[in-house]
Formats: sequence, structure tokens, C-alpha cells
Amino acid sequence: MRGAARALQKGMSARFSRLHFASPEATARFAKALAPLLVPGDVLLLDGPIGSGKTHFARALIQARLAFDGAPEEDVPSPTFTLVQAYETGKVGLWHADLYRLTHPDEVEELGLAQAFDDEICLVEWPDRLGALAPDDALTLTFEQGDEPETRNVALEAGPRWADKITAARAHADV
Ligand SMILES: Nc1ncnc2c1ncn2[C@@H]1O[C@H](COP(=O)(O)OP(=O)(O)OP(=O)(O)O)[C@@H](O)[C@H]1O
Ligand SMILES: [Mg+2]
Repeated sequence: MRGAARALQKGMSARFSRLHFASPEATARFAKALAPLLVPGDVLLLDGPIGSGKTHFARALIQARLAFDGAPEEDVPSPTFTLVQAYETGKVGLWHADLYRLTHPDEVEELGLAQAFDDEICLVEWPDRLGALAPDDALTLTFEQGDEPETRNVALEAGPRWADKITAARAHADV
């Protein structure tokens, strides 16, 4: 079940918005604008097909947060094979997961992800693999190809506590 559907089932009002990213730079601009606003316990579920821009978004966000917190620059490889890559900015922990190869939701516990959802800032690609373990108050971004090769449409679904962060990040990134 998607984040918004879960939120509705729990009686929370889910908010929807759609973003259009005209270029990889626009996608990165929104990620960078969101990066400093995140706090431990914030979970971003990055949905959408192969090559839709999930890692591109996560890399821009992680590198921006490392820089914002004064941490050294780091490469942010796709966690395709490691499933999880963790980064420490000195102020917060950032977890980047790619669950494409996850075979069973039990592995979510084994990877320490369930705990990280409470304690760290988490970005999760292929979040459908989480099943019922997906946090209810996550921000879900669903990426899809736009009309041109370099464009993407992204649907945002989130509970009300995300509204101010999304509004601020959109204004800052001009998307
Ligand atoms: N507007 C855009 N936003 C994001 N990426 C874009 C955009 N336009 C083109 N791209 C390109 O699309 C590719 C997206 O690849 P990326 O690895 O981020 O996909 P992914 O969704 O993580 O795929 P996977 O499911 O395999 O992990 C990159 O090469 C990126 O440069
Ligand atoms: Mg990826």
C-alpha cells in the first residue's frame, strides 16, 4: 500500500502534489533545497521505474546535506549491491537504501533499516519491497519519465507534517 493510502486509512489527511523537473539539474535543485530541512526520523520513499532518477535525486540530497553540515565531500554510489550505504555528516546519519534485490521483508530488520527509520534520515529506492514495514509518515516521491528524455514528473504523497518542508523546498528550488 502506498504512503498516502496508508495515511488515509489511518484517518490522516494525505497531501498530493506533482512536480515537473525540466532537467537533471532541476531534480538536483529540489533535492538540495530539501536536504537542510530534514531531521532524524524523516524517511523519503523514492518510487518509480529503473532509470527514472531516484539515485540522481538521492545523490544530490546526500551530497548537499554533507556540505550543509560541514562534512567532507563523498562519492554517493548506487547501493545496488550493498543494499544500504550509510553516511555520517557529524550532525545526522543519512541512510541510502536500494531494495531492488531484497528477497524478503525480514531483511529490512536484518539490515538495521527498521531502526534507522526512527533514528536517521533515510532515502529508500524500491520501497515497495518494504511491505508493511514502510513508515506511515514518510514522504513518497514517485518518479516517472516526462515528455522529453531529460524531463521527469514526480508525484509527492505525504502526511500533513511534510507540507511546510515541501513548500519551502519548492520555493527555494523554483520548481
Ligand atoms: N530530470 C531528470 N532527473 C533525474 N535524472 C535524469 C533527468 N533527466 C535525465 N536523467 C538521467 O536519468 C538517469 C537516472 O538514473 P538513476 O540511477 O538516478 O535512476 P534510478 O531511478 O535510481 O534507477 P534504478 O532503479 O536502476 O536504481 C541518470 O542518468 C540521469 O542523469
Ligand atoms: Mg537507483
